[in-house]
Amino acid sequence: MAAFQNKKVLVTGAGTGIGFGLCRKFAEAGALVALNDVNPGLAAEAALAINNEIGTVRVHACPFDVADVPGLRAAVKTFTGSFGGLDVAVANAGITNYGDFLTYTPEDFDRLTAVNLKGSYFTAQSAALAMISVNQPGRIIFLSSVTGVQAHRNLSAYGVTKAGIRMMARALALELGPRAITVNAVAAGATITERTLQDDPDYERNWNGVAPNRRTATVDDIAAAVLFLASPEARHITGETLIVDGGWTIYSPLPANHPQVPD
Ligand SMILES: NC(=O)c1ccc[n+]([C@@H]2O[C@H](COP(=O)([O-])OP(=O)(O)OC[C@H]3O[C@@H](n4cnc5c(N)ncnc54)[C@H](O)[C@@H]3O)[C@@H](O)[C@H]2O)c1
Repeated sequence: MAAFQNKKVLVTGAGTGIGFGLCRKFAEAGALVALNDVNPGLAAEAALAINNEIGTVRVHACPFDVADVPGLRAAVKTFTGSFGGLDVAVANAGITNYGDFLTYTPEDFDRLTAVNLKGSYFTAQSAALAMISVNQPGRIIFLSSVTGVQAHRNLSAYGVTKAGIRMMARALALELGPRAITVNAVAAGATITERTLQDDPDYERNWNGVAPNRRTATVDDIAAAVLFLASPEARHITGETLIVDGGWTIYSPLPANHPQVPD
């Protein structure tokens, strides 16, 4: 039997990129998937593409903006009602906006935190209520980032949201442990997606030299970590953030021409 046969899974921000790859992997493993995106057309296209690929209907488009809490709650209630529960929720939706700290605007900050922090928090809350209402054990997984581990220029606000998500996993793991719900995060490093390739067509080549393993993450690398944390085998892991970055964050730059330690 497939690893996630008939498990009910919600993935937010899944019209493209990492979220889309997650929906595909869960559907291939037998899950019934609610594929969310803020863009309804994109959600419908993405669900159709995966269903066509796997040759059966397992993925259902579920459009809403994760920053709109009443809309999010209503949508989660509707599809968990029709699926008959929820086993796994991946709060993947997140926006990355770059900006110099000295000119960064409150409007950008508000939208960023509304999607990345409020959206993740209330996705987890709605998912937990759905799991608890049918007395099911569950898995909640957040998408954090290496930018929540190390500081980067022009990414201060984004990095703060991603560091907040690491703490969110710990705090909610404590709250939900007695309910048999684990809460973890995956901190992705530089990952090849439609968006990152659009920002930099040479993205893979440029990042290949940076991590100790000399490669750039694919969506499948991130999905492997998420599916592990969602699996029954990960039942005793909670409150953790699994960094998936080829080792990029394990080291710090040295001065050039260090006498004993080559770069
Ligand atoms: N790609 C990377 O290199 C990378 C690295 C570290 C962390 N991450 C994190 O992984 C997650 C996915 O990243 P990605 O690069 O695949 O994303 P992306 O920018 O490609 O966006 C994926 C989808 O999210 C949707 N979306 C945006 N705002 C939304 C909202 N408010 N509600 C619902 N859907 C919304 C978009 O329409 C898009 O289809 C994000 O949380 C991101 O911060 C990505």
